[in-house]
Amino acid sequence: MKILVTGGLGYLGSHVVVDLLKNSFSVVIIDNLINSDISSLDCITNISNKNLVFEKLDLTKEKQVEEFFNRNSDIEGVIHFAALKSVRESIKYPLKYYHNNVTGMILLLEYMPKGIPFVFSSSCTVYGAVENNPIDENTPYGNPQSPYAHTKQICEIIMNSKFKSEVNFKGISLRYFNPIGAHPSGLIGENPKNKPENLVPYLTQVVSGRREELTVFGNDYLTIDGTCIRDYIHVMDLADSHIAAINHLNNLKSKKYLDDFNIGTGKGISVIQLIKMFEESTGKKVQYKIGKRRPGDLEVAYANTKKTEKILGWKSKYTLDEALQSAWNWELNHQ
Ligand SMILES: NC(=O)c1ccc[n+]([C@@H]2O[C@H](COP(=O)([O-])OP(=O)(O)OC[C@H]3O[C@@H](n4cnc5c(N)ncnc54)[C@H](O)[C@@H]3O)[C@@H](O)[C@H]2O)c1
Repeated sequence: MKILVTGGLGYLGSHVVVDLLKNSFSVVIIDNLINSDISSLDCITNISNKNLVFEKLDLTKEKQVEEFFNRNSDIEGVIHFAALKSVRESIKYPLKYYHNNVTGMILLLEYMPKGIPFVFSSSCTVYGAVENNPIDENTPYGNPQSPYAHTKQICEIIMNSKFKSEVNFKGISLRYFNPIGAHPSGLIGENPKNKPENLVPYLTQVVSGRREELTVFGNDYLTIDGTCIRDYIHVMDLADSHIAAINHLNNLKSKKYLDDFNIGTGKGISVIQLIKMFEESTGKKVQYKIGKRRPGDLEVAYANTKKTEKILGWKSKYTLDEALQSAWNWELNHQ
């Protein structure tokens, strides 16, 4: 089965591509390299020992998207990662985020072959600031805490409209919690072009000496130690959830389907707990200071994964310790 992976050279996409190849799918990647490097392509090929097709393409350019699908009408499934993902940058440059993330989604849905499995990379940020944790998928959309979060809500709404209007549309929205870690080979991992916004890549860069100090944004939240609580999921587990989603869509009898699933471990860990665990796992000291709260951050967010387990048959397997060690291994290798 030939799967198109948009944003497939990025952090999550590259791990999913490796998993797809391992599971005998054939893969075509499109990416405009705005937040990734072409060297990931060689790394994916080295890990998987399989060939794949890559095309540099910007999903917001209608002509490019149309021509791509004219040439690739044999695509049998799409996994859509390509998006800008920085909460902070989206607050500063909201139009850039709406333009990139929403236009990309619209053009993809417009031109891709009809009726094939479509998996969208969504986020737990669609829930907004939720009072009750763990969060399940029935939780209604909350007030989006950033334009980034809003683009994820809008993209899900667009999928829903498409589902209602078409006779054959099969889609799944995977709402990721906090992906961390790297492939055990240490060849691919999270490598943002700019200063990392996510905790773990920032932390590993501080420990390796690439950055001076880690700032923990706020210690006055109403949590166990005052720092935010998140659900950190190993990227290898997250990658597997995409195989489960594609298989689920393929096995459906119905031509019409749309559902959303949480992708997390179901366990909430505070930022300070994560730092301590990293120190214990690696024997390395983390230099950090407490800063102000960061706009757009939620106090507590961890997943209820019962629905994902029941319907997709997927459950996280890796421990937090394994995830943190793999992140550190990636940092050492990558340097
Ligand atoms: N990493 C996380 O913490 C996280 C959490 C929740 C959801 N997500 C979502 O998962 C997806 C992948 O995240 P990631 O961490 O791998 O990000 P990433 O930035 O590493 O990867 C995204 C890829 O998409 C490409 N891209 C962006 N805009 C594009 C466009 N217009 N045309 C073609 N390519 C484009 C980038 O160059 C990059 O390679 C994103 O949609 C993100 O919003 C990520």
